[in-house]
Amino acid sequence: MADLAEAQKRIEKLRAEINHHNYRYYVLDSPEISDAEYDALMRELQQLEGQYPQLLTPDSPTQRVGAEPLEALGVVEHPLPLLSLGNAFSGEELLAWHTRISRLLGQASFDLVGEHKIDGLAVALTYENGRFVTGATRGDGFRGEDITQNLRTIRSIPLAVPKDTPPRFEVRGEVFLPVDGFHRLNQEREKEGLPLFANPRNAAAGSVRQLDPKITARRPLDIYIYMLGYAEGGATPATHWETLEYLKSLDFKVNPNNRRLPDIGQVESYYQTWVEKREKLQYEADGIVVKVNQLDLQQRLGDVGREPRWAIAYKFPAVQGTTRLIDIGISVGRTGTLNPYAILEPVSVGGVTIRQAALHNEDDIRRKDIRIGDTVIIQRAGEVIPEVVGPIVSKRTGKEKEFDLLEKVYDKEKKRPACPVCGSEVLQPEGEVMYYCSNAACPAQAQQRIEHFASRGAMDIRGIGENLTATLFQKGLIKDIADLYYLKDRREQLLGLEKMGEKSVSNMLDAIEKSKNRPLARVILALGIRHIGEETAELLAGEFHSLAELAAASREELMSIDTIGPKIADSIMAFFRQEENRDIIRRLKEAGVKLEEKPMKAEVLPLSGMEFVLTGTLEAFPRKEAEDRIKALGGTTGSSVTRKTTYLVVGAEPGSKLDKARSLGTKIMNEAEFRQLLNQKG
Ligand code: IVH
Repeated sequence: MADLAEAQKRIEKLRAEINHHNYRYYVLDSPEISDAEYDALMRELQQLEGQYPQLLTPDSPTQRVGAEPLEALGVVEHPLPLLSLGNAFSGEELLAWHTRISRLLGQASFDLVGEHKIDGLAVALTYENGRFVTGATRGDGFRGEDITQNLRTIRSIPLAVPKDTPPRFEVRGEVFLPVDGFHRLNQEREKEGLPLFANPRNAAAGSVRQLDPKITARRPLDIYIYMLGYAEGGATPATHWETLEYLKSLDFKVNPNNRRLPDIGQVESYYQTWVEKREKLQYEADGIVVKVNQLDLQQRLGDVGREPRWAIAYKFPAVQGTTRLIDIGISVGRTGTLNPYAILEPVSVGGVTIRQAALHNEDDIRRKDIRIGDTVIIQRAGEVIPEVVGPIVSKRTGKEKEFDLLEKVYDKEKKRPACPVCGSEVLQPEGEVMYYCSNAACPAQAQQRIEHFASRGAMDIRGIGENLTATLFQKGLIKDIADLYYLKDRREQLLGLEKMGEKSVSNMLDAIEKSKNRPLARVILALGIRHIGEETAELLAGEFHSLAELAAASREELMSIDTIGPKIADSIMAFFRQEENRDIIRRLKEAGVKLEEKPMKAEVLPLSGMEFVLTGTLEAFPRKEAEDRIKALGGTTGSSVTRKTTYLVVGAEPGSKLDKARSLGTKIMNEAEFRQLLNQKG
């Protein structure tokens, strides 16, 4: 790029464009461009900022994940305290609140706003001159923790607002981890042997109160903004509803399920709707919040203690139930873990009949003092497998039995504990809470490894789920993951399976074929190496670029990677040492599965991310040669001028592309400038 001023202009344009596309994607959930186009914009910006570091600013979209880890989180004083909310646990309590404030206001009719009370983490975001400058937790309401760097990684928080605002203002909202993301995170953590988060709220809090923003960046956090804290030096709307609309216009993410409720009579049906539908939400809500709409009325009502009088949380009934724990069963997991689960007397909780519930491991069962025969509290959150919260000790009869996993799987004939599926020996590695089946060829494990390999987060082979894997496995059509890629040679046998017609066989084989080009991180994850979850797989793919390199890595090399300790390193080493695994990888490779990846952040070429369109005749070189030189320097060429075009290169007798470029404001270069650019960069 010719000079600093021009670079600055381009950088600003790119930032605005990227911010806009972030907003379309993360706030509106309605992208306008493909991921590849978005990546190209990002790459161009990164490249320019690399070239002109003096133009780099902390609010650049490239800096969302850029900050270095902190020693400790700083403290932020809240200029205006963050209050909490009073609760109503029934319709009567809600009406009592309404009667109270009607009396104080001297009027019974005023409109309200209903919102979901999201169970996440309250944050206050401060903007100065339109830029996000500070983000803080609620803390004790007066002082919170400075989590600015971490909040910057949340894509639905605008780093800069798109239009004029008061010079300084603060918005408040709830950061949360969507339910899907929460489960994925916990599955990861389980695989990596890390303690599990009890619920999405704790997971969100744990993710945001991190010293290293890179960890926060890997968690799919989101936010809903629910109020304006304060605004200095500018006019703001007169009602809460209009304030929410105003915040939306500033690109903040506001919950689309908020409703204006003309009077208290409307609140109950809003509440009932969500009591019924709450489980379908992508976030956990523990009630609704009812707020007085007019801000002058809010002002008149004021606060009592630490709670505003103008709002109340109307809580949802808990989805818990009690039943009897009949027994504890054991299933065998993918990595051979022996997983205890609760066998329950069937009970209906929130309209769903529950017969089984999760019990994570023996330690957990001991810690909660859960005994067979106990009356237990069970809890259902969202669509997930219910879990046993704990026993009701007062209901014990004395006949309850403590659980002992080794006793449970004891095989009298073999005179030792045995895997309930294959009968092999049971092991407990030092320092681990889980017991394992020692047989890598245990059918329960093999089958689940295939299921895991094909699952959505891994190779994403549509149609290969639990049932089909079981059938293929039992019929001897597959024994391991590599066999999937050789199924195409066994079409006849596939057609012989129940419910498998031409169409479903073709669909399945197509899906398998398509999975051959998954990114390396997915392949690493899909192999099912013990303790390797999504985050570690990403890390390894970034570091090694091919499975062969990863397999050849020494323990020291592995441990030199951030967050990889001896346990993970040993597990990787052990995996690649096993002959069976080496054979599987060899067969994957032969079948054409991509096991390598060009480094993403390879030295950025000088024209990376730039698209050139040529028009007219160039004197110095034929069109084809010009295009080759652009490509050799990392640029791309296009046949027509669009919004994506970086430069139009104009030769003699240009065509209509020149008009198009002018109308779009695309940068235009003549041949001399173009040659100069190539010489400079080449
Ligand atoms: S209004 C001054 N609106 O609930 C009014 N709070 O107990 C207080 N919360 O920590 C905030 N969803 O983080 C409000 N739609 C919503 C909310 C909400 C969740 C949280 C908030 C606060 C807690 C109050």
